[in-house]
Amino acid sequence: MNSSISQQVLSGMRPTGQLHLGHLHGVLKNWVQLQHEHRCYFFVADWHALTTEYDNTSVIAKSVWDMVIDWLAVGINPGEATLFIQSKVPEHAELHLLLSMSTPLSWLERIPSYKDQQQKLKDKDLSTYGFLGYPLLQSADILVYKAGLVPVALETAQALVDNQQNISLGDKKRLLGYLEGSSKTILPEPEPLLTQTAKMPGLDGQKMSKSYKNTIALREPPAAIDKKIRTMPTDPARMRRTDPGDPEKCPVWQFHKIYSNEETKTWVQNGCSSAGIGCLECKQPVIESILAELAPIRERALGYIEEPESVRAIVSEGCEQARATARETLDEVRQAMGLAYR
Ligand code: TRP
Ligand code: SF4
Repeated sequence: MNSSISQQVLSGMRPTGQLHLGHLHGVLKNWVQLQHEHRCYFFVADWHALTTEYDNTSVIAKSVWDMVIDWLAVGINPGEATLFIQSKVPEHAELHLLLSMSTPLSWLERIPSYKDQQQKLKDKDLSTYGFLGYPLLQSADILVYKAGLVPVALETAQALVDNQQNISLGDKKRLLGYLEGSSKTILPEPEPLLTQTAKMPGLDGQKMSKSYKNTIALREPPAAIDKKIRTMPTDPARMRRTDPGDPEKCPVWQFHKIYSNEETKTWVQNGCSSAGIGCLECKQPVIESILAELAPIRERALGYIEEPESVRAIVSEGCEQARATARETLDEVRQAMGLAYR
């Protein structure tokens, strides 16, 4: 590993709706762990949200605060990690602009998620300047803190690596090297930090995602959670209580894999394949585990909802901290680019 790479971690989330179990298991549990091990910056990517929600900005304003409350409620500790809002640190935008001067359009057009997302969100016009620049803004987010580590789940990492192979080494050097001083690198190239995260299935067995409407929100009322699990689909072969089933064909089993101990899992496998248990019976331990997991989170969130000023104070202090670091980087970058005249 390159010794100039710092051990700082940076990650962000787009404020585009309520956080759910997918965020908890896929990202947040990992953040809670990382904050003990590294200097961490976690930010609300409101400008990134704007690239797709430019015509629906009210959802952003609301989600910003709900998201920070959820982060705090799951155990992100502002004493250990810096929490801030991207748009309160305008240095991200300045670095994005400066990088844009030497970034070939073809690099951005070639990034697979560009066309994929446009395809996926067909009803939205994403042929915008801002959307094309999304990955570059994301690079600026990372580089402005000289963050050496960006947590990514293993699947995402593979895509990332494949992606980078599309950019030749010479090209990469040009972008980062452009900003290299004679002896030291101003903007060190970050590495993905591979993290083992659980892939949280949704209620329908697909990946849990707001766009599939198959989520359980972190602050969902217990009665609603109970209802969602009780009505979730099971192995279609179990038409009647007496029909045996196969857990591998059932989304409920995916939940057991995350939430249940060996004993319960054996009970499910035997009971399902022999029609010894009914589906509602099988779902009960899952319901209980999810309710038990979310109860303390909901309670802590309520505490923050009752004290919105404390949340604002945490974020405003985080923004100050982030900005102090970002300013220093921009001073160096301006210097390196010959823009340091006054
Ligand atoms: N793209 C991320 C998302 O969709 C948010 C994000 C923006 C981010 N900039 C980042 C994540 C930098 C990690 C590092 O949620
Ligand atoms: Fe799914 Fe459990 Fe029903 Fe089997 S018994 S089909 S695993 S819910």
